[in-house]
Amino acid sequence: MTSPNLNSDDALVALRGAVEDCLTAAVNLGAPVPASLRNAVSHALLGPSKRVRPVIVHLIASNLSRIDPVALQVGAAVEMVHTASLVLDDLPCMDDAATRRQRPATHKVYGEATAILASIALLNRAFGILAALEIEDAATKLRLIETLENAVGWNGLVAGQELDILGNVDGDRASAEHLNWLKTGVLFCAAAEMGGILRGMEADKLGHIREFARELGLAFQMADDLIDRTATAQDAGKDVGKDRNKTNVVNLLGIEASRQACIEHLARADAALVQSGIDPGPIRSLMARLFKLSGTA
Ligand code: IPE
Ligand code: IPE
Ligand code: MG
Ligand code: MG
Ligand code: MG
Repeated sequence: MTSPNLNSDDALVALRGAVEDCLTAAVNLGAPVPASLRNAVSHALLGPSKRVRPVIVHLIASNLSRIDPVALQVGAAVEMVHTASLVLDDLPCMDDAATRRQRPATHKVYGEATAILASIALLNRAFGILAALEIEDAATKLRLIETLENAVGWNGLVAGQELDILGNVDGDRASAEHLNWLKTGVLFCAAAEMGGILRGMEADKLGHIREFARELGLAFQMADDLIDRTATAQDAGKDVGKDRNKTNVVNLLGIEASRQACIEHLARADAALVQSGIDPGPIRSLMARLFKLSGTA
């Protein structure tokens, strides 16, 4: 598949379109799945999303002159893990949110039991996609699987979500940032690293890519917490005000200092990106779009 000029904003839109097509195909298994479960998975996965994680996988994996089907598959796996976490995050026992991706949250339409099962289905499908990747080098495939498992497992996102609901951060910025790292940064880092693995990057360059994504992920959760405080539900496409009583960076530092901290994370992300040797142009365009709503770009 070729794409005319991936350095332009139009090309980012084209890439996002290719990501959507890949996700749509991935849920059309043709297997005899109960309709309610299939519909719940589609509802959660195919709602309007920024698709930032699969786009990052692709922008790092590819030389940007063509859409790479393997990078799309890897991005789809990461997006499924992310979506599974959103379905759980919205449940009444977690953030108790009613709207997600401009739609009613999955449990609001299909009930809590089916929402939980849809989340489990998405998580498992993600690893099935990685296992079925059409790449010859089995070691590369295993590295991809291990990288994603490390990010979502109880050392990563799941631990971050547990700390988030326990609210047991120490009440200082360092512990709030650590929570952001676990619940959001680790998956950004995995997405970028998986892109780097597909590109065949050497260990030192991969280190810069991980650093880039760590800083981007920290900025992203901070911007999301700013959106939770300052945006309307319509602009956000999801409930806002759900994290007002949590010990997050925005509640600790206030809005202006948080914007500043977010901008500092983005500057460090940019510096690491440049060191990685990847063409920074398309990723900078992506970042400029992503951070507008939070007032940090
Ligand atoms: C929302 O993620 C949850 C966070 C980690 C902040 P996104 O803002 O990427 O959500 P979608 O995929 O665009 O819906
Ligand atoms: C969610 O953080 C992080 C994960 C789902 C892992 P939030 O609770 O802030 O995400 P939103 O604002 O509901 O999207
Ligand atoms: Mg949450
Ligand atoms: Mg939430
Ligand atoms: Mg939020």
